[in-house]
Amino acid sequence: MNTVLELRSLTKQYPDQRAVDGISLAIERGEFFSLLGPSGCGKTTTLRLVAGFEEPTEGDILLNGHSVVALPPFRRNVGTVFQNYALFPHLTVFENVAFGLRRRRPNETVDQIRQKVDRALALMQLRGKEKRRPSEISGGEKQRVALARSLVLEPQVLLLDEPLSALDPKLRKQMRIELKELQRRVGITFLFITHDEEEALSLSDRMAVMNKGVIEQVGTPREVYSTPTTRFVAEFLGGVNWLNGVGIRPEAVRMSRTKPRDDDRRSIEGVVNGSTFLGHCVHVHATLASGIPCVVEIDDRMTSFSPGEAIHVWWHPADELPITGTRQ
Ligand SMILES: Nc1ncnc2c1ncn2[C@@H]1O[C@H](COP(=O)(O)OP(=O)(O)O)[C@@H](O)[C@H]1O
Ligand SMILES: [Mg+2]
Repeated sequence: MNTVLELRSLTKQYPDQRAVDGISLAIERGEFFSLLGPSGCGKTTTLRLVAGFEEPTEGDILLNGHSVVALPPFRRNVGTVFQNYALFPHLTVFENVAFGLRRRRPNETVDQIRQKVDRALALMQLRGKEKRRPSEISGGEKQRVALARSLVLEPQVLLLDEPLSALDPKLRKQMRIELKELQRRVGITFLFITHDEEEALSLSDRMAVMNKGVIEQVGTPREVYSTPTTRFVAEFLGGVNWLNGVGIRPEAVRMSRTKPRDDDRRSIEGVVNGSTFLGHCVHVHATLASGIPCVVEIDDRMTSFSPGEAIHVWWHPADELPITGTRQ
């Protein structure tokens, strides 16, 4: 294994709160790694610890096997893209990208700096916008300037704190694809933070799901989605029905008007409350015999169900999620 960034029992205790509670992670070189979790779970604090803007209360951070906790941010060789981009409003696009180079590489010539900035701007498709100020470019372009400004310093690890959250939904999806392509091209390790499950699932090589300062599960998006080990992970990623105590995804539940005959299936009776059209599918909401709520994902081209109808829901035991963890 070729670990570039390692967190060991990393903890940050604020006076009234333990924002990060002993997390350990090993991130591989060239990986697109996401930290996914709800607002307030400690994602930004973790990132600020890695960047060096905060000091850990306990634990260690290793870059290429060497502890960096004693180093100031500019000596750590990690770049940060902040949630609000933090561009300098009075500087041009070119000057925003050149700023860090001038400060951190005082020995580079004007020509060397110009070449590097040009290359970063070309990479981010910002050629022709060099002379504009942040107020004169679009949200997507601001995003690219923020990326160019970090990439020009050739960091070993790029930390990205919800970089797509300020964009409108359409642009967000487009930038998602661009971000993934960019990461492949530059080959830099990305530590990407998000509260958006779709972003984490679609972008990551591996991801960690965080809750209340701890990491609940680490794995590939497929592993974490199909085999969540805690209730929290199952519910945060994709939603889940708790039927007879077992977790079943809405897409793994089937429903019919008659009782299924196959003994391999487990079934429960219920009543339809209503349904939600989601474009690619429909979610039928039902209440089952013992008062359990249940969401069933169905194809809109199939039978429709009306509120008040009596139904049977059923599933295959093989689709029951393997929840083994005790955390909630
Ligand atoms: N400087 C700080 N002082 C005290 N508490 C903080 C500070 N920064 C963050 N917190 C608290 O730590 C928790 C985690 O915050 P944060 O890391 O920003 O979460 P996230 O980025 O996942 O939304 C929150 O409850 C937040 O209020
Ligand atoms: Mg945050």
